[in-house]
Amino acid sequence: MSTYRIAGIPGDGIGVDVTIEARKVLDRAAELHGFGLEWTEFDWSCERYSRTGTMMPAEGVEQLAPFDAILLGAVGFPGVPDHVSLWGLLIPLRRAFAQYVNLRPVKLLPGTTSVLAGRSAEELEMVIVRENSEGEYSAIGGRHNTGQPGEFVLQESVFTRVGVQRIIRYAFELAVNRKGRVCSATKSNGLIHSMPYWDEIFAEVAAEYPNVASEQCHVDALAARMVQQPERLDVVVASNLFGDILSDLAAAVTGGLGMAPSGNINPPGEFPSMFEAVHGSAPDIAGQGIANPVAQVLTGAMLLEHLGRTGAANAVTTAVEKVLAEGAVATPDLGGTATTAQLGSAIAAALG
Ligand code: NAD
Ligand code: IPM
Ligand code: MN
Repeated sequence: MSTYRIAGIPGDGIGVDVTIEARKVLDRAAELHGFGLEWTEFDWSCERYSRTGTMMPAEGVEQLAPFDAILLGAVGFPGVPDHVSLWGLLIPLRRAFAQYVNLRPVKLLPGTTSVLAGRSAEELEMVIVRENSEGEYSAIGGRHNTGQPGEFVLQESVFTRVGVQRIIRYAFELAVNRKGRVCSATKSNGLIHSMPYWDEIFAEVAAEYPNVASEQCHVDALAARMVQQPERLDVVVASNLFGDILSDLAAAVTGGLGMAPSGNINPPGEFPSMFEAVHGSAPDIAGQGIANPVAQVLTGAMLLEHLGRTGAANAVTTAVEKVLAEGAVATPDLGGTATTAQLGSAIAAALG
């Protein structure tokens, strides 16, 4: 029997609650599909920061490197500034492991309370391919003329040819096996250097894929289209910041942050990929046992798919859809009264 080594980083807030449920479901799926998952848990979090002064140990990257995959809950909690916690754990891991693709599939699920509920699943089925290693997320810049009337900050963005090319190519490769459409989200009318450069590389890569329809969209208009005409979208490729914002919007139109999975992928497989839901640690509902675990369970399905366990991954997705369609066990965000653990257990039971 093959056994995969998985690193679990529950992190902060509801990250802890939903990761327990994802493990419950993944362990059951592994048992039913004849393989093993060997978990090692890491307590890296804001709580650890308060105790030790760092989010993770100095050799954290080396500790994670041998694993087959990483399942991460969420990072960030009041008490530690967000830029300290996220740049102390999540962002360095994405970069150290060259997880340059943030893959965020978007699908209308049964039982959703979305404003678009009632649309068909085919009309609302897209994937956001977010650049995950550079762009607007940059530490370059700083504060000038501190304390003077002319005080200002500079925040630089970095767009490399290699970085832009590889994410756009990844999007086109995905589109070949989907509906064959790629929409690139930029803001070339406002951002005068980075976005025209992205557009230029997009056009070059698009020319390599004559059978894929390509389109360049202004991200503001694209946001409106995502709500009003989602059927026009298939693969959406975007920079780090735009992809981040569009993914919460996409989550909202398909049922909320409690339903949206995500993976930080290292495409060559040279380093472990890391799976985490789109949502954060939700301090407003943390510790109440009411977070929706579906996003993290579907994130776990992406992890299984990444390991090549497609049968088990599909079984998890089917179990989620079955439980949501029945509607008997639903968390408050879905209009029900079930707890996180009750919904997680119902999904595990639906696996058979
Ligand atoms: P958030 O996603 O944590 O929460 C936004 C809203 O959605 C809240 O009202 C929350 O209750 C709700 N929500 C989110 N997930 C839910 C779920 N599973 N079930 C039910 N409701 C859910 O975003 P935020 O409030 O902007 O961020 C909170 C913290 O999380 C911050 O520290 C932020 O930096 C961090 N964050 C971390 C990650 C990550 O580690 N992957 C992602 C996003 C935000
Ligand atoms: C996400 C999150 C992170 C991001 C934050 C917490 C740094 O919002 O994974 O979507 O912007 O990448
Ligand atoms: Mn985000």
